[in-house]
Amino acid sequence: MSDGDSSDGKPGGRSVGGKSGGGKSGAGSEGARVRSRGGRGAAIRVKRGKGRSISSRRWLERQLNDPYVIEARRQGLRSRAAFKLRELDERFGLLRPGLRILDLGAAPGGWTQVALEAVQPARSGGKVVAADINEMEGMGEAVVLLLDIFDETAPVVLAEALGAMADLVLSDMAPAATGHASTDHLRIVGLAEAALDVALTVLAPGGGFVAKVWQGGTEGELLARLKLRFEKVRHFKPPSSRAESAETYVLATGFRPEKTPDPEKTPGEAEDEA
Ligand SMILES: C[S@@+](CC[C@H](N)C(=O)[O-])C[C@H]1O[C@@H](n2cnc3c(N)ncnc32)[C@H](O)[C@@H]1O
Repeated sequence: MSDGDSSDGKPGGRSVGGKSGGGKSGAGSEGARVRSRGGRGAAIRVKRGKGRSISSRRWLERQLNDPYVIEARRQGLRSRAAFKLRELDERFGLLRPGLRILDLGAAPGGWTQVALEAVQPARSGGKVVAADINEMEGMGEAVVLLLDIFDETAPVVLAEALGAMADLVLSDMAPAATGHASTDHLRIVGLAEAALDVALTVLAPGGGFVAKVWQGGTEGELLARLKLRFEKVRHFKPPSSRAESAETYVLATGFRPEKTPDPEKTPGEAEDEA
């Protein structure tokens, strides 16, 4: 993953994320209030190893000293990224039992764990479908798919796996970083656009969409599309998202499906005309 997130450690007509600032759901039970080492215990240093580059040594040091990585491991979470979804949920009240959720870019599975915890499919009748271009180990009640979001069959495969319209589409997809900022930026926006294409075909009215994007840049077209089809569009950078990372999340709620044109009406006729 590009930002080193791995820890290696109301059914029916629902709307998603309508409230702001509320927090609930079982997924937030061991919430995201993770403290830094705060001076207790010296930072772990990684020795220069044979064949280990400076950048991989730095990455390893950052992982070993990252309180979210440590906490993710302690809680048995597959990635530190799990805290970002918990924080999004605490802030916007996205998750609850009974929802049908599509989790794109799911591997290694932190978001899927948080979604499952909240949805509780067996008890509630909800569903969690997790998809990634890379293999992801199966997880309890989640449907796990190996799939490239750019594959032309992806929307159909995902719709079939969901079995009914989704309440929430999540995309934490990120490309492997090239180190070239504008290339990485374009690729991440491309992934968010592809996630939105899928969301527009699978979301139920009132549904929600969350996607990882890059701060300050060329997501204008994505935002314009979101504003057209959702009641509310906001940005949120979860506290657990590394400050030095340009990553942030765009959150769109209150999905408005496109109306099928009425063949009885001539083009341009106003919708509410008597
Ligand atoms: C930041 S990681 C996701 C972490 C995950 N949300 C978690 O909680 O563990 C980004 C993921 O996006 C996936 N990805 C990148 N390009 C993709 C594509 N074209 N289709 C599907 N998944 C993709 C990567 O394989 C990677 O697993």
